[in-house]
Amino acid sequence: MDAPSLLNPERRMLKAMQTDVGRTWSLNEVLKACNWTDQAVAAAAGHGLTNHGMVETMEHVVRTVKAASEGLKAAQEGLLEQRLWSWIQSTESASMADLQSAFERHEAGPGVGLLKRLGVLLIDGTFQSDDPEHVGREIEQRATFIRGLPCSIETADSTMLEHFKSRRGLIEIAEQTTRTWSLTEAGAHLGGEHLEEKEAVSEITTELLQSEAWKDAEFRSFDVTLESASPRTGRSHPMQALIERVRAIFLEMGFSELVDDYVQTAGWNMDALFIPQDHPAREMQDTFYLENPASLPLPADLVKAWGDIHEHGGVTGSVGWGGAFSKATSEKGLLRTHTTVNTIQYLAAHPDEACRVFSVDRVFRKEAIDRTHLPEFHQIEGIIMEEGANLQMLVTTMKTFYAKMGCPEVRVRPAYFPYTEPSLEIEVKWRGKWLELGGAGIFRPEVTEPLGISTPVLAWGMGLERLAMLVLGLDDIRQLYISDLEWLRNQPIL
Ligand code: PHE
Repeated sequence: MDAPSLLNPERRMLKAMQTDVGRTWSLNEVLKACNWTDQAVAAAAGHGLTNHGMVETMEHVVRTVKAASEGLKAAQEGLLEQRLWSWIQSTESASMADLQSAFERHEAGPGVGLLKRLGVLLIDGTFQSDDPEHVGREIEQRATFIRGLPCSIETADSTMLEHFKSRRGLIEIAEQTTRTWSLTEAGAHLGGEHLEEKEAVSEITTELLQSEAWKDAEFRSFDVTLESASPRTGRSHPMQALIERVRAIFLEMGFSELVDDYVQTAGWNMDALFIPQDHPAREMQDTFYLENPASLPLPADLVKAWGDIHEHGGVTGSVGWGGAFSKATSEKGLLRTHTTVNTIQYLAAHPDEACRVFSVDRVFRKEAIDRTHLPEFHQIEGIIMEEGANLQMLVTTMKTFYAKMGCPEVRVRPAYFPYTEPSLEIEVKWRGKWLELGGAGIFRPEVTEPLGISTPVLAWGMGLERLAMLVLGLDDIRQLYISDLEWLRNQPIL
């Protein structure tokens, strides 16, 4: 057999073991004999030598019974049945009501169950036992067991072990694997000339290649099958990574990005979008109105134009909503409930330039937090204003976007928004089901005309977190924001 090419640590370990051929070496003995401190080095050398047939590895599993969280408490304060039993013994004609006032609910219930199994029963309204001595002995045996932890599973009382295994949180069984090594025939006889440690080259540098030294150098080989720690480097949060991807897609499709403030007026957030002033979504329970600024001034001509539209349709031919339009309601300060508040202002500022604009930004709604709702979330918003823009173009744009996000199956359904006509709901197929991801439509004349826009405007607003749930396969939206490091580390790179 050719002499195997050993790594330096393997050489050192084998040489050390050859000083006592018949011995079984423990980890500590190997560390000492090799003058190492790192257990991983010894384990890797032992593993390598075993692969080369020089050493035999023996594994021993040691199992230890330990006190778990409840067990640690019991060792200090006594077992639940122990505390209940001594309370019963020191209380005259202890009744259930007495017990319930002496112990907390989470203890009284399970405690009574434990006593019952020990033969302590409620008879004529008081706790009694036929054989109090037996109860005392049994309890003492349990307490002794718990106090005696940790102990090896071999020496543990098996009846007690079975008993405590069936109770929650009292004990746990820890396993530890230890390894020992002994020489094989081949290892014992491998000549000393193979065991000289050599300077091994682990990095090929230009200096090495330019000199002649590489000709005689020994190169370190890598065992790529060995276990190793996975490198942990910084990376974007999956939400941020997703936002970047959405951005890249819209930029690539020729859109420019719009960024604007959270704080807005009800006027731009709602009135400009022909949302009636008595619409339920405007109520306090759905929208975060601000105390500071409680109101923000709006230009009088703008408010007048919205008022005309809302009250009687202005010059659009619409009949409006009727009723009286309130300037004060319009000027209320709020946290934007949708990013449409920003695209509409962009249009007002550029009423006659064709455009493609998008934003990915945060919006606020007074939602109770649950599996699918958050009070702060993000919308993917966009508009296309262009001569000849039509519904088909809107649907194609949405389909193209989702296809680029990896969701090729998209369908639209009729929907209703006060500011678009027609209005659509966009749904994406995910694991065989259609999920609603957003709304879209063509802005109504009641929205565009007061702003002096006569070109058709396609608009949409979609939920980003919903899309994230789908891309990351989540069933709880909160997972995105709880900073669970373990989960974050295991997320795919988007
Ligand atoms: N703003 C709507 C929402 O918050 C979505 C939408 C945007 C609908 C633009 C139509 C046009 O859900």
